[in-house]
Amino acid sequence: MTYVTEENLTDLAVERWSNIPDPRLRQIMMAAVKHMHAFVREVEPTQQEWFTAIQWLTRVGQICDAKRQEFILMSDVMGVSMLVDSINNRAPGKATPSTVEGPFHIADSPEISDGGNMADGAPGIPCFVSGKVTDLDGKPIAGAMLDMWQTDGEGLYEAQIEGAEGYMRGIYHSNSDGSYTVRTVAPIGYTIPMDGPIGELMRKTKISHMRPAHIHFHLAAPGFKSLTTHIFQKGCQFIDTDVVFGVKEPLIVEFVQKPAGKAPNGEAISTPFYEVKYDFVLAKAAAAQKAA
Ligand code: BEZ
Ligand code: FE
Repeated sequence: MTYVTEENLTDLAVERWSNIPDPRLRQIMMAAVKHMHAFVREVEPTQQEWFTAIQWLTRVGQICDAKRQEFILMSDVMGVSMLVDSINNRAPGKATPSTVEGPFHIADSPEISDGGNMADGAPGIPCFVSGKVTDLDGKPIAGAMLDMWQTDGEGLYEAQIEGAEGYMRGIYHSNSDGSYTVRTVAPIGYTIPMDGPIGELMRKTKISHMRPAHIHFHLAAPGFKSLTTHIFQKGCQFIDTDVVFGVKEPLIVEFVQKPAGKAPNGEAISTPFYEVKYDFVLAKAAAAQKAA
C-alpha cells in the first residue's frame, strides 16, 4: 500500500479517478483532478483562502434561480464559454463565425415580415439591418430563419423590463434571393449583472464589466448548420474589452449614419437613422461536421 505524501498525492488522486467505466467521464474527471491539483500546487492557497473561495462559489450557486445563472456568468467572464463555443462551432471557409448566446434569448418570438419593426415603441435611434443569407459558394438561401434579440436604445432587454412581452425581438425569414431587412433601434453597450458574487469579484479587478453594442441572431435553414452569433457596432467604446470575449473580427460592422429620408424598407423616416449591411454565410450541415 502506498500512503499519502505531498509529492505522490496528485498521482494517487488521478489513479483513484481512473476507476470509471464510462471512457468519456473517466477522461473528464482524470483531467479535472489533474488540473485542479496543478492549480493548488501553483497557487499554494492558505486554508483561509481556500475557504474564502468555497464560500464565494457557494454564493454563486445560491443566487442562481430559474431566470439567473451566475455559474454561466462566471464561465463567460473567464472566457470559458467562448472557448467551448469556438471548439464546438468551428466555421469552415468563409462561414460566419459563432459567438455566445448569452442569457437574454427568449424562445417563440413574434414572427415579423420582411422589413417589419421589432422595436415598435422602444426608445432609441431607428436602425435598419439588411443583407443576404448565402451558402459558402455565395448561393442565396431562401427561407432561412433569423431569430433576433437585442437591447433597446437604453441598454435593456425584454427580460429586464417588468411586464414587457415580445419586446426587442422577432423572427424573420429570408426572401427567395436570400435577402432580409429588419427595422429596429440601435442597441447600446451594457453592463453584465454586477449585483452578485461575479460583480463582487469584478469590482476587485480593473476589468471592464461592459459588453459592446450588439444584436443577437440565431440562424437556421434546412440542410445547414445553425448559427448563434451577434453583430457588433464598429467603433463602440467597449469593442476591444468585451467582458465575455465575444467579439470576433468578422462580426464587427459599420452602423452608417443616414439623414432623415427614405429607409431601406421603403419607409420615410423623419429623424436620422442607422443603416447596417451584413451578409450571413452558413455552412452545409455536413461541411461543418468535417471541419469540426
Ligand atoms: C449577452 O450578450 O446578452 C450576454 C452574454 C454573456 C453574459 C451577459 C450578457
Ligand atoms: Fe447581449
